[in-house]
Amino acid sequence: MRMNVKEDRVRVEGLVKDFRPGLGLRKKRILKDVSFSVREGEIYGFVGPNGAGKTTTLKILMGLIRPTAGTASILGHDVSESEFRQQIGFLPENPYFYSFLTAREILDFYGRLSGLDSATRKKRVADLLSSVGLEYAADSRLKTYSKGMLQRVGIAQALVHDPRVVFLDEPMSGLDPIGRKEIRDIILRLRSEGRTVFMNTHILNDVEMICDRVAIIVQGRIQYEGDISDLLSGDSMDSDVVLSQLSAEFGAHLQERYGSRVKGMGDRIEVQVRDKEVSSLLSAALGSGAEVVSVTRNRNSLENVFLQAVRLDHEKESMA
Ligand SMILES: Nc1ncnc2c1ncn2[C@@H]1O[C@H](COP(=O)(O)OP(=O)(O)O)[C@@H](O)[C@H]1O
Ligand SMILES: [Mg+2]
Repeated sequence: MRMNVKEDRVRVEGLVKDFRPGLGLRKKRILKDVSFSVREGEIYGFVGPNGAGKTTTLKILMGLIRPTAGTASILGHDVSESEFRQQIGFLPENPYFYSFLTAREILDFYGRLSGLDSATRKKRVADLLSSVGLEYAADSRLKTYSKGMLQRVGIAQALVHDPRVVFLDEPMSGLDPIGRKEIRDIILRLRSEGRTVFMNTHILNDVEMICDRVAIIVQGRIQYEGDISDLLSGDSMDSDVVLSQLSAEFGAHLQERYGSRVKGMGDRIEVQVRDKEVSSLLSAALGSGAEVVSVTRNRNSLENVFLQAVRLDHEKESMA
C-alpha cells in the first residue's frame, strides 16, 4: 500500500455540497468551499454549531455521499476508492446496536465482518473491552447500558480492525461530565497509540481539552483552521489593569487614551487593554506615581472565538 509519511492523513479541498431540502424545492448549498487537512497522530476537532455541515462532511469522507464539487482523500486515497477502508474506523452520530446482544457479542460480530479468525477475535475483543473500560459489563445485554457505556461500545466497534485513522461523529454529545471525561481519556489514548483522530463536535470545552488542531465551520463555511493554541492566544487577548492613587492629570490622560475601556471603582480604576499595550500602560502609570493593584490576563476562550465566528458569519449573510 502506498504510504508517504509526510502525507496528510486527511485532506479536503474545495468541498461543495448542495442538497434539495424537499421535493420541488430549490437546491441549498450546505458546504461552501470547505478545505482542511489532518496530520498524522493528531486529534483534530471539526467544530461547529448544529446544522453547520459537520456530519455532511464526514459522510463525504466515509464515501456515503458524493460531493457536488471538490475532493477528499484519506491516507492518500481518494474517498471514492474502497481498499484503504480497512485502515479507518468510524463512529456514527447515533450508533444503533441490537439491545439484546452483549458488548462482547457485538464486538465479536464486527470482528467477524472484518474477517478476523476466531482466536484473534477472542483476544482482540477482550483487549477492546478493557481499553474502553467495559470488562465489568462485557456479558450484560446492551439494553442495560447507559448512554456513555453505549458510546464506548461504539468506539470499541470502530477499533475492531485496529485502524490508523479514526472518525468520530459527536462522541461526547448527550453524556454527563463523567461520561465525557471517560470518552476524552479514550481519545487521548488513541493518540498515544499513534492513531490519528478526527472528531466532529459542538462541545467546545472538550475541544479545548484534547484537540491539537481545529477547523471551525459555521453555516457550511470554514471560519478558522489551525492550531488551537494559536487560536487562543495572540492579539485577540486582553488584560485588565487595576490602578489606584491616580493623579488628576493621569486620570484625564487615561480617559483620553482609553475612553470607555476605563472603568471607575471608588479610588481604583480598571483599564481593559490589549496584551501588547500592558507594558506601556504600566510604565506610564508608575511614572505618574500611580499604584498598580493588579494585572489580570483574560485568557481567550474557544467559546469567545466561536461566538465571534458565528456572529461574523451572520453579519456577512445579512449583508449579502
Ligand atoms: N440528506 C439531506 N438532504 C437535505 N438536507 C440535508 C441533508 N443532510 C443534511 N442536510 C442539511 O444540511 C445542513 C447540515 O447538516 P449536518 O451536516 O448534519 O450538520 P451538523 O452535523 O454540523 O449538525 C442542515 O441544514 C441539514 O438540514
Ligand atoms: Mg452532525
